Amino acid sequence: MNNAEIGTPLPNYEPYQTLNQFSLAGKVAIVTGASRGLGESFAQALAGAGADLVLLGREQKTLDEVSGRIHDQTGRKIFSIATDVGQVTEIEKVVPFIVHEMGRLDILVNNAGINFRVPALEISEEQWDQVIDVNLKGAFFLARECGKVMTQQRSGKIINILSLTSFLGLPTVVPYSAAKGGMNQLTKLLAVEWADHNVQVNAIAPGYFRTAMTQPVRDDQRNAWVLNRTPAGRWGEPTELCGALLFFASNASNFVTGQILYVDGGFTSGSDWRKGDVRGE
Ligand SMILES: NC(=O)c1ccc[n+]([C@@H]2O[C@H](COP(=O)([O-])OP(=O)(O)OC[C@H]3O[C@@H](n4cnc5c(N)ncnc54)[C@H](OP(=O)(O)O)[C@@H]3O)[C@@H](O)[C@H]2O)c1
Repeated sequence: MNNAEIGTPLPNYEPYQTLNQFSLAGKVAIVTGASRGLGESFAQALAGAGADLVLLGREQKTLDEVSGRIHDQTGRKIFSIATDVGQVTEIEKVVPFIVHEMGRLDILVNNAGINFRVPALEISEEQWDQVIDVNLKGAFFLARECGKVMTQQRSGKIINILSLTSFLGLPTVVPYSAAKGGMNQLTKLLAVEWADHNVQVNAIAPGYFRTAMTQPVRDDQRNAWVLNRTPAGRWGEPTELCGALLFFASNASNFVTGQILYVDGGFTSGSDWRKGDVRGE
């Protein structure tokens, strides 16, 4: 690069329009596991940024309540469809139906998840299969079905929801950790395979967030461990994941793919020995 090129504005770069890159106006997003917890927050954020939505979960009634609330808040078009993402046959039917009903498909948030907290010596085959089917197999086949549409139209965003257990050994969550570790690898593989089709595949790895899934952890001695081990010294609130989500869902991340963004209050950065062993709330 010569001196004349240094500091030359990028073609068509208008700094005052940078925030517009985060707009999702005219886009259609699928959020799995949208009936509560992190998925509900993700759906709110996407609709707030202008996207129309399809919410998936197993209970139509709960999904309808969530979609009604978000529609009232944002005025966006929102469908909810009871779907078990652990069943590949349901996935293969629902994605084409969504594309037909909504006219397009731009964003998939692979968020649905289940967990059993059982020591490794006691985990059953049934528990293993259930968790892998929903958290890993279902997420892949959703990505595959959405990927068919996105690669064809040469644009799309897939955001996988990982976990600290994607990278760290945290006891009593064997199938969950295996599935979330698999999702880490899946994110990178699909990112590479679909990069030249202009489909970006990224992931968010949440630390400990207040939802129904983590209620049992808040109810026992692990609560003190979470507070002590998380440098921020507190649980995350679901809305604190939404900035990362909008970055990955929008044009702001068009040259970012295969990346994992930790939103964990510093958990994976280290731990602070000055806090001692356990700190109560
Ligand atoms: N909370 C945290 O601290 C935390 C941390 C790291 C990662 N995560 C991940 O974030 C995601 C959301 O967790 P959360 O804490 O919000 O959990 P949650 O409150 O238990 O919500 C889970 C959602 O997934 C749906 N779901 C479960 N099984 C499904 C299936 N077979 N088909 C379709 N939907 C299904 C649930 O709806 P129905 O039961 O009605 O189907 C619900 O909407 C999960 O992937 C979880 O592993 C959470």
